[in-house]
Amino acid sequence: MAMGKDIFNEFKEHSISEFFKKNRQMLGYSSTVRSLVTVVHEYVSNSIDATEEAGILPDITIKLEKISENRYTVEVSDNGPGIPKNIVGRALGMILAGTKFHRNVQQRGQQGIGAAGCTLFALTTTGKPIHVISSMDSGRAFSCDISIDTLHNKPIMGNFVELEEVKRGLTVKGEFGDVKYDTGEHSIFEYLRRTALSNPHVQITFIDPNNKEVIFPRSIDKIPEKPRTAKLHPLGLTISDLIETAHSSKNSKLSNFLMENFARFSQGKINELKGMLDVDFDKKPSGLTWEDAEKIIKAFKEIKWIAPESAHIMPIGEEQIKTALKNIMNPDFMYVVERKPKVFRGGFPFIVEAAIAFGGSAGKKSEEGYSGNVLRFANKVPLLFDTGNCAITDAVKEIQWKRYNIDMEKQPVSLFVNVSSVHIPYSGVGKESISKEAEIIEEIKLALMDAARGLQHFIYKKQKLSLFAGRYKTIMRYTNQLSKDLSQLSGKDKEIIQKMLEKIVEEHYPRNNKEDVVEDGAENNLEDKE
Ligand SMILES: Nc1ncnc2c1ncn2[C@@H]1O[C@H](COP(=O)(O)OP(=O)(O)OP(=O)(O)O)[C@@H](O)[C@H]1O
Ligand SMILES: [Mg+2]
Repeated sequence: MAMGKDIFNEFKEHSISEFFKKNRQMLGYSSTVRSLVTVVHEYVSNSIDATEEAGILPDITIKLEKISENRYTVEVSDNGPGIPKNIVGRALGMILAGTKFHRNVQQRGQQGIGAAGCTLFALTTTGKPIHVISSMDSGRAFSCDISIDTLHNKPIMGNFVELEEVKRGLTVKGEFGDVKYDTGEHSIFEYLRRTALSNPHVQITFIDPNNKEVIFPRSIDKIPEKPRTAKLHPLGLTISDLIETAHSSKNSKLSNFLMENFARFSQGKINELKGMLDVDFDKKPSGLTWEDAEKIIKAFKEIKWIAPESAHIMPIGEEQIKTALKNIMNPDFMYVVERKPKVFRGGFPFIVEAAIAFGGSAGKKSEEGYSGNVLRFANKVPLLFDTGNCAITDAVKEIQWKRYNIDMEKQPVSLFVNVSSVHIPYSGVGKESISKEAEIIEEIKLALMDAARGLQHFIYKKQKLSLFAGRYKTIMRYTNQLSKDLSQLSGKDKEIIQKMLEKIVEEHYPRNNKEDVVEDGAENNLEDKE
Protein backbone atom coordinates (compact mmCIF):
# COMPACT_ATOMS: atom_id res chain seq x y z
CA MET A 1 0.00 0.00 0.00
CA ALA A 2 1.35 3.45 -0.88
CA MET A 3 2.27 5.60 2.09
CA GLY A 4 0.84 9.09 2.35
CA LYS A 5 4.11 10.72 1.42
CA ASP A 6 4.44 8.57 -1.72
CA ILE A 7 1.00 9.54 -2.89
CA PHE A 8 1.94 13.21 -2.73
CA ASN A 9 5.19 12.65 -4.61
CA GLU A 10 3.16 13.22 -7.73
CA PHE A 11 1.41 16.36 -6.54
CA LYS A 12 1.74 19.02 -9.29
CA GLU A 13 0.19 22.25 -10.49
CA HIS A 14 -1.14 22.65 -14.01
CA SER A 15 -1.87 25.69 -16.09
CA ILE A 16 -5.26 26.47 -17.55
CA SER A 17 -3.80 25.76 -21.03
CA GLU A 18 -2.88 22.26 -20.00
CA PHE A 19 -6.33 21.79 -18.60
CA PHE A 20 -7.99 22.79 -21.87
CA LYS A 21 -5.47 20.81 -23.89
CA LYS A 22 -6.86 17.74 -22.15
CA ASN A 23 -10.47 18.92 -22.08
CA ARG A 24 -10.82 20.60 -25.42
CA GLN A 25 -14.39 19.32 -25.84
CA MET A 26 -15.34 21.86 -23.18
CA LEU A 27 -14.40 24.62 -25.62
CA GLY A 28 -16.41 23.13 -28.48
CA TYR A 29 -13.64 20.99 -30.00
CA SER A 30 -15.56 17.77 -29.75
CA SER A 31 -16.36 16.38 -33.19
CA THR A 32 -14.43 17.05 -36.37
CA VAL A 33 -17.30 19.01 -37.92
CA ARG A 34 -18.04 21.03 -34.82
CA SER A 35 -14.35 21.84 -34.21
CA LEU A 36 -14.05 23.63 -37.54
CA VAL A 37 -17.25 25.61 -36.93
CA THR A 38 -15.94 26.52 -33.46
CA VAL A 39 -12.79 28.07 -34.92
CA VAL A 40 -14.81 30.17 -37.35
CA HIS A 41 -17.27 31.10 -34.61
CA GLU A 42 -14.55 32.31 -32.23
CA TYR A 43 -12.78 34.44 -34.84
CA VAL A 44 -15.95 35.87 -36.36
CA SER A 45 -17.41 36.77 -32.93
CA ASN A 46 -14.20 38.53 -32.01
CA SER A 47 -14.18 40.45 -35.29
CA ILE A 48 -17.76 41.65 -34.83
CA ASP A 49 -17.12 42.60 -31.20
CA ALA A 50 -13.99 44.55 -32.08
CA THR A 51 -15.41 46.39 -35.09
CA GLU A 52 -18.61 47.33 -33.28
CA GLU A 53 -16.68 48.57 -30.30
CA ALA A 54 -14.54 50.73 -32.57
CA GLY A 55 -17.67 52.10 -34.27
CA ILE A 56 -16.86 50.49 -37.62
CA LEU A 57 -19.36 48.72 -39.92
CA PRO A 58 -18.01 45.16 -39.88
CA ASP A 59 -16.68 43.66 -43.09
CA ILE A 60 -15.45 40.13 -42.50
CA THR A 61 -13.92 37.59 -44.84
CA ILE A 62 -13.61 33.91 -43.99
CA LYS A 63 -11.46 31.71 -46.19
CA LEU A 64 -11.07 27.96 -45.84
CA GLU A 65 -8.52 25.81 -47.58
CA LYS A 66 -8.19 22.08 -47.54
CA ILE A 67 -4.67 20.87 -46.80
CA SER A 68 -5.43 17.17 -46.61
CA GLU A 69 -8.15 14.87 -45.31
CA ASN A 70 -9.16 16.27 -41.89
CA ARG A 71 -6.77 19.22 -42.12
CA TYR A 72 -7.79 22.76 -43.12
CA THR A 73 -6.58 26.31 -42.82
CA VAL A 74 -8.99 28.97 -41.63
CA GLU A 75 -8.29 32.62 -42.32
CA VAL A 76 -10.51 35.37 -40.93
CA SER A 77 -9.92 39.04 -41.77
CA ASP A 78 -11.77 42.06 -40.48
CA ASN A 79 -11.69 45.83 -40.91
CA GLY A 80 -11.57 46.44 -37.15
CA PRO A 81 -9.10 48.25 -34.92
CA GLY A 82 -6.42 45.52 -35.00
CA ILE A 83 -4.50 44.56 -31.87
CA PRO A 84 -1.42 46.48 -30.68
CA LYS A 85 1.94 44.70 -30.73
CA ASN A 86 2.37 44.64 -26.99
CA ILE A 87 -1.03 42.96 -26.46
CA VAL A 88 -1.41 40.61 -29.40
CA GLY A 89 0.55 37.78 -27.79
CA ARG A 90 -1.60 37.66 -24.70
CA ALA A 91 -4.82 38.23 -26.68
CA LEU A 92 -4.28 35.21 -28.94
CA GLY A 93 -1.75 33.13 -27.03
CA MET A 94 -2.87 33.14 -23.42
CA ILE A 95 -6.01 31.55 -22.06
CA LEU A 96 -8.15 33.77 -19.84
CA ALA A 97 -6.79 37.05 -21.14
CA GLY A 98 -8.85 39.67 -22.93
CA THR A 99 -10.56 43.00 -22.71
CA LYS A 100 -14.07 41.84 -21.89
CA PHE A 101 -14.14 39.72 -18.73
CA HIS A 102 -14.40 42.39 -16.02
CA ARG A 103 -16.44 44.73 -18.06
CA ASN A 104 -20.12 43.99 -17.57
CA VAL A 105 -21.08 44.92 -21.09
CA GLN A 106 -23.11 42.95 -23.59
CA GLN A 107 -20.61 41.54 -26.03
CA ARG A 108 -20.24 38.22 -27.78
CA GLY A 109 -17.00 37.39 -26.02
CA GLN A 110 -16.72 37.23 -22.27
CA GLN A 111 -14.04 35.00 -20.89
CA GLY A 112 -10.85 35.60 -22.85
CA ILE A 113 -10.70 31.99 -23.95
CA GLY A 114 -11.99 31.90 -27.53
CA ALA A 115 -9.04 33.06 -29.63
CA ALA A 116 -6.34 31.47 -27.48
CA GLY A 117 -8.44 28.29 -27.51
CA CYS A 118 -8.07 28.27 -31.33
CA THR A 119 -4.31 28.75 -31.00
CA LEU A 120 -4.17 25.85 -28.56
CA PHE A 121 -6.28 23.69 -30.88
CA ALA A 122 -3.96 24.44 -33.83
CA LEU A 123 -0.92 23.65 -31.70
CA THR A 124 -2.29 20.36 -30.44
CA THR A 125 -3.56 19.12 -33.80
CA THR A 126 -0.87 20.37 -36.22
CA GLY A 127 1.95 21.70 -34.04
CA LYS A 128 1.78 24.99 -35.91
CA PRO A 129 1.46 28.56 -34.62
CA ILE A 130 -1.25 30.99 -35.70
CA HIS A 131 -0.21 33.67 -38.17
CA VAL A 132 -1.46 37.19 -37.45
CA ILE A 133 -1.47 40.44 -39.41
CA SER A 134 -2.53 43.46 -37.42
CA SER A 135 -2.93 46.94 -38.77
CA MET A 136 -4.13 49.91 -36.77
CA ASP A 137 -5.43 53.37 -37.57
CA SER A 138 -2.03 54.77 -36.66
CA GLY A 139 -0.78 53.18 -39.88
CA ARG A 140 1.48 50.84 -37.95
CA ALA A 141 1.19 47.25 -39.09
CA PHE A 142 3.02 44.03 -38.39
CA SER A 143 2.73 40.33 -38.82
CA CYS A 144 3.86 37.60 -36.45
CA ASP A 145 3.35 34.00 -35.39
CA ILE A 146 1.79 33.13 -32.06
CA SER A 147 1.67 29.89 -30.18
CA ILE A 148 1.24 28.89 -26.54
CA ASP A 149 3.65 27.62 -23.95
CA THR A 150 1.02 25.37 -22.45
CA LEU A 151 3.01 24.54 -19.32
CA HIS A 152 2.90 28.17 -18.26
CA ASN A 153 -0.07 29.45 -20.26
CA LYS A 154 2.20 32.08 -21.84
CA PRO A 155 2.36 33.25 -25.46
CA ILE A 156 5.27 32.21 -27.67
CA MET A 157 5.86 34.76 -30.39
CA GLY A 158 8.06 34.71 -33.44
CA ASN A 159 8.74 35.99 -36.97
CA PHE A 160 7.92 39.62 -36.24
CA VAL A 161 7.79 41.67 -39.44
CA GLU A 162 6.92 45.38 -39.69
CA LEU A 163 4.62 45.98 -42.62
CA GLU A 164 3.59 48.92 -44.73
CA GLU A 165 0.34 49.74 -46.47
CA VAL A 166 -1.84 47.07 -44.98
CA LYS A 167 -5.56 47.74 -44.82
CA ARG A 168 -6.74 48.40 -41.25
CA GLY A 169 -7.90 45.36 -39.31
CA LEU A 170 -6.88 41.98 -38.04
CA THR A 171 -6.21 38.82 -40.00
CA VAL A 172 -5.71 35.52 -38.21
CA LYS A 173 -4.77 32.37 -40.05
CA GLY A 174 -4.32 28.94 -38.54
CA GLU A 175 -3.92 25.37 -39.68
CA PHE A 176 -6.12 22.89 -37.86
CA GLY A 177 -6.14 19.11 -37.80
CA ASP A 178 -8.82 16.68 -36.65
CA VAL A 179 -11.46 18.74 -38.45
CA LYS A 180 -13.96 18.13 -41.20
CA TYR A 181 -15.72 20.50 -43.54
CA ASP A 182 -19.44 19.82 -43.72
CA THR A 183 -22.20 21.43 -45.74
CA GLY A 184 -25.31 20.44 -43.77
CA GLU A 185 -27.29 21.84 -40.88
CA HIS A 186 -24.15 22.28 -38.75
CA SER A 187 -21.97 23.80 -41.39
CA ILE A 188 -19.87 26.92 -41.53
CA PHE A 189 -22.11 28.18 -44.31
CA GLU A 190 -25.15 27.78 -42.05
CA TYR A 191 -23.30 29.44 -39.16
CA LEU A 192 -22.48 32.43 -41.36
CA ARG A 193 -25.97 32.60 -42.85
CA ARG A 194 -27.40 32.77 -39.35
CA THR A 195 -24.80 35.34 -38.33
CA ALA A 196 -25.97 37.46 -41.25
CA LEU A 197 -29.58 36.98 -40.09
CA SER A 198 -28.91 38.23 -36.57
CA ASN A 199 -26.42 40.92 -37.66
CA PRO A 200 -27.82 42.64 -40.73
CA HIS A 201 -25.16 45.37 -40.39
CA VAL A 202 -22.31 42.89 -40.99
CA GLN A 203 -20.97 42.15 -44.44
CA ILE A 204 -19.72 38.58 -44.67
CA THR A 205 -17.68 37.03 -47.46
CA PHE A 206 -17.11 33.30 -47.35
CA ILE A 207 -14.64 31.51 -49.59
CA ASP A 208 -15.17 27.78 -49.20
CA PRO A 209 -12.55 25.03 -49.71
CA ASN A 210 -13.58 24.73 -53.37
CA ASN A 211 -12.74 28.42 -53.77
CA LYS A 212 -16.41 29.29 -54.24
CA GLU A 213 -17.26 32.74 -52.90
CA VAL A 214 -20.55 33.52 -51.18
CA ILE A 215 -21.34 37.03 -50.02
CA PHE A 216 -23.94 37.91 -47.43
CA PRO A 217 -24.25 41.63 -48.13
CA ARG A 218 -25.15 43.93 -45.27
CA SER A 219 -28.75 44.99 -45.43
CA ILE A 220 -28.53 47.81 -42.90
CA ASP A 221 -25.92 50.56 -42.75
CA LYS A 222 -26.38 51.41 -39.13
CA ILE A 223 -23.78 50.32 -36.58
CA PRO A 224 -25.48 49.11 -33.42
CA GLU A 225 -24.93 51.36 -30.43
CA LYS A 226 -21.71 50.77 -28.57
CA PRO A 227 -22.16 48.38 -25.67
CA ARG A 228 -22.59 50.21 -22.40
CA THR A 229 -21.34 49.12 -19.01
CA ALA A 230 -23.98 47.80 -16.67
CA LYS A 231 -23.73 47.95 -12.93
CA LEU A 232 -24.57 44.68 -11.23
CA HIS A 233 -27.88 44.57 -9.44
CA PRO A 234 -27.63 43.62 -5.75
CA LEU A 235 -29.85 40.60 -6.35
CA GLY A 236 -27.43 39.26 -8.92
CA LEU A 237 -24.47 39.31 -6.53
CA THR A 238 -22.90 36.37 -4.75
CA ILE A 239 -20.87 36.64 -1.52
CA SER A 240 -17.62 36.06 -3.36
CA ASP A 241 -18.49 38.65 -6.05
CA LEU A 242 -19.08 41.19 -3.30
CA ILE A 243 -15.85 40.36 -1.48
CA GLU A 244 -13.80 40.38 -4.66
CA THR A 245 -15.04 43.80 -5.78
CA ALA A 246 -14.86 45.18 -2.23
CA HIS A 247 -11.26 44.05 -1.76
CA SER A 248 -10.10 45.70 -4.96
CA SER A 249 -12.01 48.91 -4.20
CA LYS A 250 -10.31 52.20 -3.38
CA ASN A 251 -13.37 53.64 -1.64
CA SER A 252 -12.83 54.66 1.96
CA LYS A 253 -16.31 53.70 3.15
CA LEU A 254 -18.32 50.55 2.57
CA SER A 255 -21.49 52.65 2.10
CA ASN A 256 -19.95 54.68 -0.74
CA PHE A 257 -18.53 51.56 -2.31
CA LEU A 258 -21.98 49.97 -2.47
CA MET A 259 -23.64 53.08 -3.86
CA GLU A 260 -20.99 53.61 -6.54
CA ASN A 261 -20.57 50.06 -7.73
CA PHE A 262 -24.00 48.51 -7.77
CA ALA A 263 -27.29 49.40 -9.40
CA ARG A 264 -30.30 50.82 -7.54
CA PHE A 265 -28.32 51.73 -4.41
CA SER A 266 -29.22 54.97 -2.65
CA GLN A 267 -28.56 56.46 0.80
CA GLY A 268 -32.06 55.21 1.67
CA LYS A 269 -31.01 51.63 0.95
CA ILE A 270 -27.86 52.04 3.07
CA ASN A 271 -30.01 53.30 5.95
CA GLU A 272 -32.34 50.36 5.52
CA LEU A 273 -29.40 47.96 5.66
CA LYS A 274 -27.98 49.76 8.68
CA GLY A 275 -31.29 49.20 10.47
CA MET A 276 -31.17 45.49 9.72
CA LEU A 277 -27.51 44.61 10.28
CA ASP A 278 -24.77 45.08 12.86
CA VAL A 279 -22.26 45.83 10.10
CA ASP A 280 -20.12 48.98 10.14
CA PHE A 281 -20.83 50.75 6.83
CA ASP A 282 -18.17 53.39 7.52
CA LYS A 283 -15.26 51.02 7.43
CA LYS A 284 -13.08 50.37 4.41
CA PRO A 285 -14.52 47.94 1.84
CA SER A 286 -11.05 46.45 1.33
CA GLY A 287 -11.35 44.90 4.80
CA LEU A 288 -14.81 43.37 4.26
CA THR A 289 -14.99 39.97 5.96
CA TRP A 290 -16.77 36.89 4.63
CA GLU A 291 -19.16 36.98 7.60
CA ASP A 292 -20.20 40.59 6.93
CA ALA A 293 -20.50 39.96 3.21
CA GLU A 294 -22.74 36.98 3.92
CA LYS A 295 -25.00 39.10 6.16
CA ILE A 296 -25.20 41.84 3.52
CA ILE A 297 -26.08 39.45 0.69
CA LYS A 298 -28.74 37.82 2.87
CA ALA A 299 -30.21 41.24 3.72
CA PHE A 300 -30.27 42.15 -0.03
CA LYS A 301 -32.75 39.31 -0.54
CA GLU A 302 -35.08 40.72 2.12
CA ILE A 303 -35.17 44.29 0.82
CA LYS A 304 -37.46 45.50 -1.96
CA TRP A 305 -35.42 46.66 -4.95
CA ILE A 306 -36.30 48.46 -8.13
CA ALA A 307 -35.81 45.95 -10.96
CA PRO A 308 -32.42 46.11 -12.65
CA GLU A 309 -31.85 48.63 -15.39
CA SER A 310 -32.13 47.27 -18.89
CA ALA A 311 -31.02 50.21 -21.00
CA HIS A 312 -27.64 48.60 -21.61
CA ILE A 313 -29.19 45.51 -23.19
CA MET A 314 -29.02 45.64 -26.93
CA PRO A 315 -31.44 43.42 -28.80
CA ILE A 316 -31.24 43.15 -32.60
CA GLY A 317 -34.38 45.26 -33.15
CA GLU A 318 -37.67 44.54 -34.88
CA GLU A 319 -36.88 46.40 -38.10
CA GLN A 320 -33.45 44.82 -38.31
CA ILE A 321 -34.86 41.32 -37.93
CA LYS A 322 -37.49 41.97 -40.57
CA THR A 323 -34.96 43.35 -43.02
CA ALA A 324 -32.62 40.43 -42.42
CA LEU A 325 -35.32 37.77 -42.72
CA LYS A 326 -36.59 39.31 -45.91
CA ASN A 327 -33.10 39.59 -47.30
CA ILE A 328 -32.01 36.08 -46.50
CA MET A 329 -35.20 33.98 -46.52
CA ASN A 330 -37.63 36.07 -48.55
CA PRO A 331 -40.54 34.40 -46.76
CA ASP A 332 -44.23 34.63 -47.73
CA PHE A 333 -44.99 35.68 -44.21
CA MET A 334 -43.11 36.75 -41.12
CA TYR A 335 -44.02 37.94 -37.69
CA VAL A 336 -41.53 39.53 -35.31
CA VAL A 337 -41.99 39.97 -31.56
CA GLU A 338 -39.79 41.95 -29.20
CA ARG A 339 -40.62 41.40 -25.53
CA LYS A 340 -40.04 43.91 -22.75
CA PRO A 341 -36.99 43.39 -20.51
CA LYS A 342 -37.41 40.77 -17.80
CA VAL A 343 -35.16 39.53 -15.02
CA PHE A 344 -33.82 36.08 -14.16
CA ARG A 345 -32.44 35.02 -10.78
CA GLY A 346 -33.62 38.34 -9.38
CA GLY A 347 -30.72 40.42 -10.62
CA PHE A 348 -30.02 39.74 -14.29
CA PRO A 349 -32.06 41.57 -16.92
CA PHE A 350 -32.58 40.06 -20.37
CA ILE A 351 -34.64 40.65 -23.50
CA VAL A 352 -36.17 38.02 -25.78
CA GLU A 353 -36.87 38.55 -29.46
CA ALA A 354 -38.64 35.97 -31.53
CA ALA A 355 -39.79 35.68 -35.09
CA ILE A 356 -41.55 33.22 -37.32
CA ALA A 357 -40.88 33.03 -41.02
CA PHE A 358 -43.02 30.95 -43.37
CA GLY A 359 -42.31 30.03 -46.98
CA GLY A 360 -39.45 31.35 -49.11
CA SER A 361 -36.31 29.59 -47.92
CA ALA A 362 -37.62 29.27 -44.35
CA GLY A 363 -37.50 25.86 -42.74
CA LYS A 364 -35.70 22.85 -44.09
CA LYS A 365 -36.16 21.26 -47.49
CA SER A 366 -35.33 17.64 -48.11
CA GLU A 367 -36.41 14.90 -50.49
CA GLU A 368 -39.39 14.15 -48.28
CA GLY A 369 -40.53 17.76 -48.44
CA TYR A 370 -40.49 20.67 -46.02
CA SER A 371 -40.07 20.79 -42.27
CA GLY A 372 -39.56 23.46 -39.64
CA ASN A 373 -36.33 24.48 -37.93
CA VAL A 374 -35.29 26.51 -34.91
CA LEU A 375 -32.65 29.21 -35.17
CA ARG A 376 -31.19 29.89 -31.72
CA PHE A 377 -29.16 32.98 -30.87
CA ALA A 378 -27.57 34.43 -27.74
CA ASN A 379 -26.45 38.04 -27.99
CA LYS A 380 -26.84 37.75 -31.78
CA VAL A 381 -24.48 34.77 -31.98
CA PRO A 382 -25.96 31.66 -33.63
CA LEU A 383 -25.99 28.57 -31.45
CA LEU A 384 -25.63 25.51 -33.64
CA PHE A 385 -24.75 22.75 -31.20
CA ASP A 386 -25.74 21.43 -27.80
CA THR A 387 -29.41 21.81 -28.76
CA GLY A 388 -30.75 19.56 -26.00
CA ASN A 389 -29.25 21.67 -23.22
CA CYS A 390 -30.84 24.90 -24.31
CA ALA A 391 -33.66 26.97 -22.81
CA ILE A 392 -34.79 27.87 -26.35
CA THR A 393 -35.22 24.19 -27.29
CA ASP A 394 -37.26 23.57 -24.14
CA ALA A 395 -39.51 26.54 -24.83
CA VAL A 396 -40.13 25.37 -28.41
CA LYS A 397 -40.97 21.87 -27.17
CA GLU A 398 -43.38 23.12 -24.55
CA ILE A 399 -45.55 24.91 -27.11
CA GLN A 400 -48.38 22.93 -28.68
CA TRP A 401 -47.81 23.99 -32.24
CA LYS A 402 -50.83 22.09 -33.54
CA ARG A 403 -53.04 24.47 -31.61
CA TYR A 404 -51.80 27.21 -33.91
CA ASN A 405 -52.26 25.05 -37.00
CA ILE A 406 -48.52 24.94 -37.36
CA ASP A 407 -46.89 21.65 -38.23
CA MET A 408 -43.18 21.81 -37.50
CA GLU A 409 -42.71 18.44 -39.21
CA LYS A 410 -44.27 19.37 -42.51
CA GLN A 411 -44.25 23.12 -43.04
CA PRO A 412 -41.53 25.49 -44.24
CA VAL A 413 -41.30 27.36 -40.93
CA SER A 414 -38.29 28.91 -39.24
CA LEU A 415 -38.51 29.93 -35.60
CA PHE A 416 -35.98 32.59 -34.71
CA VAL A 417 -35.14 33.31 -31.04
CA ASN A 418 -32.50 35.71 -29.74
CA VAL A 419 -31.82 36.18 -26.03
CA SER A 420 -29.86 39.32 -25.15
CA SER A 421 -28.22 39.98 -21.80
CA VAL A 422 -24.99 41.18 -20.28
CA HIS A 423 -25.00 37.90 -18.38
CA ILE A 424 -26.25 35.13 -20.65
CA PRO A 425 -26.27 32.03 -18.44
CA TYR A 426 -24.54 29.64 -20.85
CA SER A 427 -24.77 25.94 -20.05
CA GLY A 428 -21.05 25.43 -20.66
CA VAL A 429 -17.73 27.15 -21.41
CA GLY A 430 -18.30 26.45 -25.11
CA LYS A 431 -21.27 28.89 -25.03
CA GLU A 432 -23.45 26.80 -27.35
CA SER A 433 -26.64 26.75 -25.28
CA ILE A 434 -28.52 28.87 -22.77
CA SER A 435 -29.12 27.25 -19.41
CA LYS A 436 -32.69 26.39 -18.55
CA GLU A 437 -33.67 29.29 -16.30
CA ALA A 438 -37.44 29.17 -15.75
CA GLU A 439 -37.87 32.92 -16.34
CA ILE A 440 -36.03 32.77 -19.66
CA ILE A 441 -37.99 29.75 -20.91
CA GLU A 442 -41.25 31.50 -19.99
CA GLU A 443 -40.34 34.64 -21.91
CA ILE A 444 -39.30 32.69 -24.99
CA LYS A 445 -42.59 30.80 -24.89
CA LEU A 446 -44.63 33.98 -24.65
CA ALA A 447 -42.73 35.53 -27.54
CA LEU A 448 -43.06 32.46 -29.74
CA MET A 449 -46.74 32.00 -28.95
CA ASP A 450 -47.38 35.58 -29.93
CA ALA A 451 -45.59 35.03 -33.23
CA ALA A 452 -47.40 31.70 -33.67
CA ARG A 453 -50.76 33.47 -33.46
CA GLY A 454 -49.63 35.74 -36.26
CA LEU A 455 -48.74 32.78 -38.44
CA GLN A 456 -51.90 30.91 -37.48
CA HIS A 457 -53.93 33.79 -38.77
CA PHE A 458 -51.98 33.89 -42.00
CA ILE A 459 -52.31 30.13 -42.54
CA TYR A 460 -56.04 30.30 -41.82
CA LYS A 461 -56.49 33.05 -44.39
CA LYS A 462 -54.32 31.21 -46.86
CA GLN A 463 -56.37 28.04 -46.44
CA LYS A 464 -59.58 30.00 -46.77
CA LEU A 465 -58.32 31.65 -49.92
CA SER A 466 -57.27 28.36 -51.46
CA LEU A 467 -60.68 26.94 -50.61
CA PHE A 468 -62.29 29.94 -52.29
CA ALA A 469 -60.01 29.55 -55.27
CA GLY A 470 -61.16 25.94 -55.67
CA ARG A 471 -64.82 26.86 -55.45
CA TYR A 472 -64.33 29.83 -57.75
CA LYS A 473 -62.82 27.56 -60.37
CA THR A 474 -65.58 24.98 -60.06
CA ILE A 475 -68.41 27.48 -60.27
CA MET A 476 -66.78 29.40 -63.10
CA ARG A 477 -66.94 26.22 -65.18
CA TYR A 478 -70.72 26.54 -65.20
CA THR A 479 -71.01 30.24 -66.01
CA ASN A 480 -70.63 29.76 -69.73
CA GLN A 481 -73.47 27.24 -70.03
CA LEU A 482 -75.60 29.03 -67.47
CA SER A 483 -75.34 32.38 -69.25
CA LYS A 484 -76.29 30.72 -72.54
CA ASP A 485 -79.38 29.21 -70.91
CA LEU A 486 -80.31 32.41 -69.15
CA SER A 487 -79.87 34.34 -72.39
CA GLN A 488 -82.29 32.02 -74.16
CA LEU A 489 -84.81 32.26 -71.36
CA SER A 490 -84.65 36.00 -70.95
CA GLY A 491 -83.74 37.03 -74.46
CA LYS A 492 -80.90 39.20 -73.09
CA ASP A 493 -77.32 39.33 -74.31
CA LYS A 494 -75.28 36.28 -73.26
CA GLU A 495 -71.99 38.17 -72.84
CA ILE A 496 -73.56 40.67 -70.44
CA ILE A 497 -75.12 37.90 -68.40
CA GLN A 498 -71.83 36.01 -68.25
CA LYS A 499 -69.93 39.13 -67.08
CA MET A 500 -72.56 39.72 -64.38
CA LEU A 501 -72.42 36.11 -63.22
CA GLU A 502 -68.63 36.18 -63.05
CA LYS A 503 -68.77 39.32 -60.98
CA ILE A 504 -71.11 37.65 -58.50
CA VAL A 505 -68.85 34.58 -58.19
CA GLU A 506 -65.82 36.85 -57.73
CA GLU A 507 -67.53 38.67 -54.88
CA HIS A 508 -68.44 35.43 -53.14
CA TYR A 509 -65.05 33.78 -53.53
CA PRO A 510 -62.28 36.39 -53.50
CA ARG A 511 -59.10 34.63 -54.59
CA ASN A 512 -56.21 36.90 -53.99
CA ASN A 513 -57.48 39.79 -52.05
CA LYS A 514 -54.75 41.31 -49.89
CA GLU A 515 -57.23 43.23 -47.70
CA ASP A 516 -58.67 39.93 -46.71
CA VAL A 517 -55.38 38.56 -45.42
CA VAL A 518 -54.44 41.51 -43.29
CA GLU A 519 -56.36 41.60 -40.09
CA ASP A 520 -56.02 41.75 -36.34
CA GLY A 521 -53.13 44.18 -36.23
CA ALA A 522 -50.91 41.90 -38.24
CA GLU A 523 -50.50 44.62 -40.86
CA ASN A 524 -46.98 45.65 -39.88
CA ASN A 525 -45.90 42.09 -39.91
CA LEU A 526 -47.30 41.00 -43.19
CA GLU A 527 -44.80 41.40 -45.93
CA ASP A 528 -45.80 40.51 -49.41
CA LYS A 529 -43.10 39.41 -51.75
CA GLU A 530 -42.35 41.92 -54.42
N1 LIG B 1 -10.44 40.64 -34.39
C1 LIG B 1 -10.03 41.27 -33.28
N2 LIG B 1 -9.79 42.62 -33.30
C2 LIG B 1 -9.37 43.26 -32.18
N3 LIG B 1 -9.17 42.67 -31.00
C3 LIG B 1 -9.37 41.34 -30.90
C4 LIG B 1 -9.81 40.58 -32.04
N4 LIG B 1 -9.90 39.29 -31.65
C5 LIG B 1 -9.56 39.25 -30.35
N5 LIG B 1 -9.25 40.48 -29.88
C6 LIG B 1 -8.81 40.82 -28.50
O1 LIG B 1 -8.32 39.62 -27.95
C7 LIG B 1 -8.99 39.32 -26.73
C8 LIG B 1 -9.06 37.84 -26.53
O2 LIG B 1 -9.98 37.24 -27.41
P1 LIG B 1 -10.72 35.92 -26.95
O3 LIG B 1 -11.61 35.46 -28.03
O4 LIG B 1 -9.70 34.96 -26.47
O5 LIG B 1 -11.55 36.37 -25.68
P2 LIG B 1 -12.92 37.19 -25.57
O6 LIG B 1 -13.48 37.44 -26.91
O7 LIG B 1 -12.63 38.38 -24.72
O8 LIG B 1 -13.85 36.18 -24.75
P3 LIG B 1 -14.40 34.73 -25.20
O9 LIG B 1 -13.51 33.72 -24.57
O10 LIG B 1 -15.76 34.67 -24.62
O11 LIG B 1 -14.34 34.68 -26.68
C9 LIG B 1 -10.32 40.02 -26.83
O12 LIG B 1 -10.86 40.30 -25.56
C10 LIG B 1 -9.95 41.28 -27.61
O13 LIG B 1 -9.42 42.24 -26.72
MG1 LIG C 1 -13.80 35.83 -28.24
